[in-house]
Amino acid sequence: MKPHLTTAQLTEAELGEIRTLIEQRSAILLDSSRERFFSTRLREYLGEKHIESGTELLQIVRASVTEYDALLEQLLTQETSFFRYPAVYEALRKKILPEVQERKFWQDPRALRIWSAGCSTGEEPCSIAITLCDSLKFAEAWEIEILATDISRRALSHAERGIYAKRSLQDVSLGQVETHFSTTKHGYQVKPRIRKMISFVQMNLVEPAYFGKFDCIFCMNVLMYFSEKRRLAILRRFYDALEPGGYFLLGHSETLSNVSLNLESIRLGDCLIYRKPVSSEAPRMLAFVEELP
Ligand SMILES: C[S@@+](CC[C@H](N)C(=O)[O-])C[C@H]1O[C@@H](n2cnc3c(N)ncnc32)[C@H](O)[C@@H]1O
Repeated sequence: MKPHLTTAQLTEAELGEIRTLIEQRSAILLDSSRERFFSTRLREYLGEKHIESGTELLQIVRASVTEYDALLEQLLTQETSFFRYPAVYEALRKKILPEVQERKFWQDPRALRIWSAGCSTGEEPCSIAITLCDSLKFAEAWEIEILATDISRRALSHAERGIYAKRSLQDVSLGQVETHFSTTKHGYQVKPRIRKMISFVQMNLVEPAYFGKFDCIFCMNVLMYFSEKRRLAILRRFYDALEPGGYFLLGHSETLSNVSLNLESIRLGDCLIYRKPVSSEAPRMLAFVEELP
């Protein structure tokens, strides 16, 4: 269906107020680089809801969290895919998991916790779960939890259903499709073994919440939409949530340059990953290059 564009007038002042409201509550910066996206989506929203002006919209969304959330859904970018950056999953398989196995082998319970922060419709946490199933030795001997959070309820309800179109499985190998998905009349559904490893939770990264410690945090293609100040505050919280020796993973074009956190940056082939040192290690912030075995 064609989106409903409105003829309602939006003044610069109204646009500015809407931008500020979104930034304050959800960290998303709709600056000049996203101007076209912002004003088109906003006009579509006004048209769909038959709202006459920016001032009316502001009154509605300020008076009701539900209305604010509905507007926000319209302004989120939720692009994602399975195994979006193959090098990251290669790093998980060949570097991060072997290290965790060595560090935690004798622990009882042998727990492994991973956070996919900004998981969108679930392809990222499913890719993590598939990687764990396929490459963690004695996977059944581990207590595995993948926490997958997002601000968008709509994206999370898609993720919870776990049904995907064939075209979105193009980077999933045939063997993995056969092992980890079943076919339904609506598409390919992740099997219960994968689904049970993941807890989907609605969460705004701006609001501090305590979910315990993680061996690995994926926050790919999320912080790039936030202002520098918000990004730093959220990164500090991620840092605190990482286990010593834990890893932090960003999207392909994102880096932690200019961030003063005690993290080693490790280049593995095509990707840069970050590790929180264990307390016995000297602090280092130098990047270094490693070959994957
Ligand atoms: C571009 S998608 C990235 C999805 C996935 N991580 C990937 O790289 O394929 C960005 C996600 O961040 C979520 N997001 C944006 N602002 C957020 C916030 N303040 N708190 C939590 N999630 C947020 C969006 O809803 C969206 O699903």
